[in-house]
Amino acid sequence: MTELDDFRSVYEVSGVYDRLLLPHYYHGREDIDLISDLMQQHHGEPAADLEIVEFGCGTGRVTSSLDPHARKLVVADYSDTMIEAATARFPRAETICADTRDAVTRLHADGRAGHFNVVGAFWSLSYPLGEFFETMTPTGIRPTADQHGSRSAAVEFVHDLLGLLASDGHMLALFFDADTPEQRLVTRQWERIAPFPEGGRRYTRDLLLDALREAEDLGHGTLTHIRYGGTALARDRDAAQKWFEAVHLKNHPLLVRDRQVRAEVAEFIAHHEQPDGQIAIPSGVHVIDFHTVVHPSCHLPMQAQR
Ligand SMILES: C[S@@+](CC[C@H](N)C(=O)[O-])C[C@H]1O[C@@H](n2cnc3c(N)ncnc32)[C@H](O)[C@@H]1O
Repeated sequence: MTELDDFRSVYEVSGVYDRLLLPHYYHGREDIDLISDLMQQHHGEPAADLEIVEFGCGTGRVTSSLDPHARKLVVADYSDTMIEAATARFPRAETICADTRDAVTRLHADGRAGHFNVVGAFWSLSYPLGEFFETMTPTGIRPTADQHGSRSAAVEFVHDLLGLLASDGHMLALFFDADTPEQRLVTRQWERIAPFPEGGRRYTRDLLLDALREAEDLGHGTLTHIRYGGTALARDRDAAQKWFEAVHLKNHPLLVRDRQVRAEVAEFIAHHEQPDGQIAIPSGVHVIDFHTVVHPSCHLPMQAQR
């Protein structure tokens, strides 16, 4: 057994996430650049004048796109290891080591609703959303008894996230695309343990988008949602295999010890091997941007406003 073999070690053992994470490219640019571009588009050149909070910050990879814009930066993650890494990188940031749900509740309790110009969560919102519906342990997955109640609670959580935004603020999220061949394979493999709620692994993204649409319908702002196709690049077969086992399957013992799972992963990797030995995995990312404005009147051109 090595540190890489442990269940969920990817988020809980220092250095593992950065070592195993594959770079993801969309139109020749990394995922981080998608957020730098949006920050620039919304707020202009960095002027260190914004209040920003990021949930599921990890080691602070995407935080690097937010930090230059921040007067006040808050980063939250449930993992001590991740918070330690983010603190080392952004020593002036306020940190919250807590589950995203608890971190949001704490910020509201501290009177910080309506304070933030940017609320970010990158590749990290599927976890707290999923945890309304099920609990994952090394021995299996336990669905919550009241799935209908879970959905209402999850939608309320999304509204609480939005409640942290100041007017003219943006909630930005990067969300994995559950429909790529890579993610479909991972879904089939997780389904060997338990089916996903609401009929599929894309349910967390659907739920987030539904809740944001509902907020738009209520006049709280506007939702922009773009999906980019791209590539995750592994330098060789070994890097691709570790990506699957430690990151996708979280080294879940029921999966990584399963011979059929291992064979399917090996076959997928071989199929995507390039002549130079690198593995180019088709990827997709959903870029989600909710802008808190008075909808719909604020979208009218000046001449149409009275
Ligand atoms: C895929 S990583 C993304 C990290 C970072 N945002 C990035 O893009 O590199 C997911 C992060 O979410 C954190 N996480 C997972 N479940 C969480 C939860 N329920 N509450 C808070 N953080 C969570 C993990 O510790 C990890 O840092």
